[in-house]
Amino acid sequence: MRLDAEMDEQLFGAVYRAFLRYQVLLFPPQDLPPARQVSLARRFGEVQIHVMNQYHADGYPELYRLSNLDEQGRPSGRHPDKGTLAWHTDGSWQRVTGQATIIYGEVMPASGGETHFCDMYGAYQRLSAAWKGRIAGLRAVHNLDFSRTRRHGEDPLTDAQRLAKPPVDHPVVRTHAESGRKCLYLGDHAESIVGMPYAEGRALIEELNALAVHPDLSYEHRWTARELILWDNRCVMHRATPYDAATQGRVIRRCTVLGQVPA
Ligand SMILES: [Fe+2]
Repeated sequence: MRLDAEMDEQLFGAVYRAFLRYQVLLFPPQDLPPARQVSLARRFGEVQIHVMNQYHADGYPELYRLSNLDEQGRPSGRHPDKGTLAWHTDGSWQRVTGQATIIYGEVMPASGGETHFCDMYGAYQRLSAAWKGRIAGLRAVHNLDFSRTRRHGEDPLTDAQRLAKPPVDHPVVRTHAESGRKCLYLGDHAESIVGMPYAEGRALIEELNALAVHPDLSYEHRWTARELILWDNRCVMHRATPYDAATQGRVIRRCTVLGQVPA
């Protein structure tokens, strides 16, 4: 399916229904100028302007580019965002969290640099009754400064970025606003549990994040350059896998559409 022309209402409706049903959609390799990516994202809703403005791309503050290439286009050896290597859901560190994320792969390495997805409806369903009872009504504090510093200590948030994005709390089990189904909602930005001693909350989050990933409920995507993937952050966690940033290039262009305050 081509994305280089504006979709009519009927076609976009079909794409949106597939997005809700399948959670992750993959489009075949094609040229997609930045403006087209932004206009596609706007069909889904309001597009996030990311607080980490050093990543803004091509004059579009809605786009966020992660690249390991230097100004001459050579691999720099520097991984642009190590935070993406841990399972997470985009924008869980803000009050209105991410709905769709839309990634276009500009340059992809020959090996590594995959993106993995896991289903959080299934993660919740597979919890035991005891686990479901234990986490019912709990809220987790999500904090970009926590996850960023832990995974990416050499490139932390600036003071202004930290002040702009204070921690927020969300239900550990959220109800998807459109499907009405329950999903587990944690990931790497979740730092602590409201009303629980810090260490106990940390241990609970680590345990649940590990329990949430089931190989048979996951999809591991090995990229071909110029593909586009979009997914539903409300019911999917994702992560990238490592690659050799000193010898291979990986450049993605990403934008995230804002959704709802989780409930
Ligand atoms: Fe992400």
